[in-house]
Order: sequence, then structure tokens, then C-alpha cells
Amino acid sequence: MRIFVTGGAGFIGSALVRHLLENTQYEVLNFDKLTYAGTLTTVERVAQSNRYRFVQGDICDADAVRAAIAEFKPDVITHLAAESHVDRSIDGPGAFVQTNVVGTYTMLAEARAYWLSLDEAARERFRFHHISTDEVYGSLGETGLFTEETPYDPRSPYSASKAGSDHLVSAWGHTFGLPVLITNCSNNYGPYHFPEKLIPLMIVKALAGAALPVYGKGDQVRDWLFVEDHVRALHAVFERGEPGRTYNVGGNNEKQNLEVVKTVCAILDRLRPRADGQSYATQITYVADRPGHDKRYAIDATRIKDELGWEPTETFETGIEKTVAWYLDNQDWWQAIVAEHSADQRRGLSV
Ligand SMILES: NC(=O)c1ccc[n+]([C@@H]2O[C@H](COP(=O)([O-])OP(=O)(O)OC[C@H]3O[C@@H](n4cnc5c(N)ncnc54)[C@H](O)[C@@H]3O)[C@@H](O)[C@H]2O)c1
Repeated sequence: MRIFVTGGAGFIGSALVRHLLENTQYEVLNFDKLTYAGTLTTVERVAQSNRYRFVQGDICDADAVRAAIAEFKPDVITHLAAESHVDRSIDGPGAFVQTNVVGTYTMLAEARAYWLSLDEAARERFRFHHISTDEVYGSLGETGLFTEETPYDPRSPYSASKAGSDHLVSAWGHTFGLPVLITNCSNNYGPYHFPEKLIPLMIVKALAGAALPVYGKGDQVRDWLFVEDHVRALHAVFERGEPGRTYNVGGNNEKQNLEVVKTVCAILDRLRPRADGQSYATQITYVADRPGHDKRYAIDATRIKDELGWEPTETFETGIEKTVAWYLDNQDWWQAIVAEHSADQRRGLSV
């Protein structure tokens, strides 16, 4: 098969590109604008493959998308390109509407035109797979889980823009018969995570001897999913999922943010003890909360387990250990990014 991946230079997209090239015989086209969040160093280890191609392009640029699709002739489009950081969506929501809503519309329009041009067998085979977030469902109280039937209730400019893109994808399936699939997943973590996101940010700041900024009381709950488990789920969905269907993907790993930060500190204490013998946890500092910060997200991933046989293989304990070790072993990768993009700077205070 020929898989067209948008956003393949980012965190999850690059994990998918690496997974497909290392575990299948598929051809992969990585279509990415290389915004601040995208770097080709994430796919360096597979870039020599003769089954891999890269096109630098913007998903909002219909001509560029059309040309890349026409040349590559994909069987599947997996659409991951997006603006993805909630804090940045508070400072500059316009880019989120543009990329996530207008960009997804452009991808759908071009995918549909291409799909209509295919012969019947190829049209049957074609899939448009949209990758989205559990944040579209809003915020949970102490109990309950998001299912695929939970009504949408996005609260941040980021989640609102993703909800808008999900609705467009669903509409293209219902109205035009385009064979679409949507996955909504929980918070990912793992190697090559851009160091503005919670887990890598804490590792970077801890090693720099800086304060570890915990938003509010740190009592927000997220369901953590190891990125390599996520890309196996994506692979199962575009290969075997039923067109028109949504699948929730979660890690069965609910943790409070403070617990996550303390776990990172404990692993660093063991793997890279501080010279003064103190714990990295002494660097924890409570800072102003994110405006509109959702309290709790948690996923019911029964459907993807029952229908496609997918389950996460990593517990939070095994996944976080691998992640911290990876950041210790790959300091060159993130130091360059932190220096170039001030990735460790606080954003999203709405002032
Ligand atoms: N990271 C998570 O925990 C998480 C959870 C649920 C869903 N998602 C979704 O998964 C997808 C990937 O997330 P991620 O964490 O890898 O994001 P990321 O920010 O790490 O990567 C995004 C990639 O998209 C590219 N991109 C951005 N705008 C583009 C444009 N206009 N045209 C082409 N390429 C563009 C960037 O260059 C980058 O390589 C997103 O759609 C996101 O909403 C992420």
C-alpha cells in the first residue's frame, strides 16, 4: 500500500512514518510544512529507505496537496498535520483555525477529487484517516469515561479547532461517501516529543536545574498513551477499521499531572542523580493555571479492542521509564530545539 502521511515530521506523525517503514513493506510519503513543531531529524533513521519520500508543503495549499497526491497516488491518507499545543492556541488561535479547520477542509476536498478519479477497485480500497484528540469531548468530573458517543464539548481554541475538523471529516463521509475514519486519542508521550509539552519539558528543565512549573495544583488528570502504542492503533484502524466509524484510543493510564512530574523526577533521581544528592522534586514550583484548563480526560477504548483487537502494550511505568531514558540518551536532539524555539518558555496565559 501507499500511505500519504501529513504531519510526518512531528511527534506522532514521525512515529507512524518510522513504524510503517520498519514494520511493513508500504511506501510512505511524508507531507509536512516543517513549522516550528516539525523537524526531519525525527525521521532520520528511516529517511534512506527507497520506500520513503518527503514533500515540504502546506495542507492549506490546495495546489501543493493536489500535486503531491497526484504524483504519489495513495491508497490511504493519514492526516496528522495540525497545530497541536493548547497553550499556543490561547496566545494565537488564528493559526489553529487556519491549519486545523481550513487545512483539513483542503485535504478533504483534494482527497475527494482524487478518490473520484480512481477506478472502482482503488476507490473501494481508499481511506481518509483523520487523527484527532479526546479533548473534543470536553472535561470529565471525578468519574466517567469518554466513549465514541460522548457529545462534543470542546473548551480550548485547540480542541474547538479539532472538533471543527472532525465534523468536516464526518460530513465528507456522510454527504459525499468518502471512506473516512476518525480516531480520538488521549495524551501521547514518548521519544521525539517536542520539548514544550509537559513530560519532555519537565525533563529538560530538571536537567537544567530550573524550576519545574506545575500548572495550578497539578491535579488535572490525563490518560497517558505511549506514542508507539498509538501508531499501532492507527495502523490497525486504517487497515481494518470500518469506514464512517470513530475509534477512541487510550492508554488506560490515568494520572494527575503532579504525579507525572514526580514520577519523572524519581526516574531522573535514579538514572542521573543531582550532584548535591537532592531530589529533582525539590525543583517543583506551582504556577498560575492555564485559563480554561480541563480537569479530567479519560478514554473508554473498548470499541477498538473488541473490533480491531488493539490494546496498549506499555503501562505508564514502563513507557515513562523508556521516555526519560530516551531524553537522557538524545540530548543533542532536544537541546537544538530548545535553543532555536525557546520551547521551554511559558505560553498561554491569555495576557
Ligand atoms: N500529542 C498528543 O498527545 C495528541 C493527542 C491527541 C491527538 N493529537 C493529534 O495528533 C496529530 C499529531 O500531533 P503531534 O503531537 O504529533 O503534533 P506536532 O505538533 O508534534 O506535529 C505537527 C506536525 O504537523 C506539521 N504541520 C503543522 N501545520 C502544517 C501545515 N499547515 N501543513 C503541513 N504540515 C503542517 C508540523 O510541521 C509538524 O511536523 C495532531 O492532529 C493532533 O491534534 C495529538
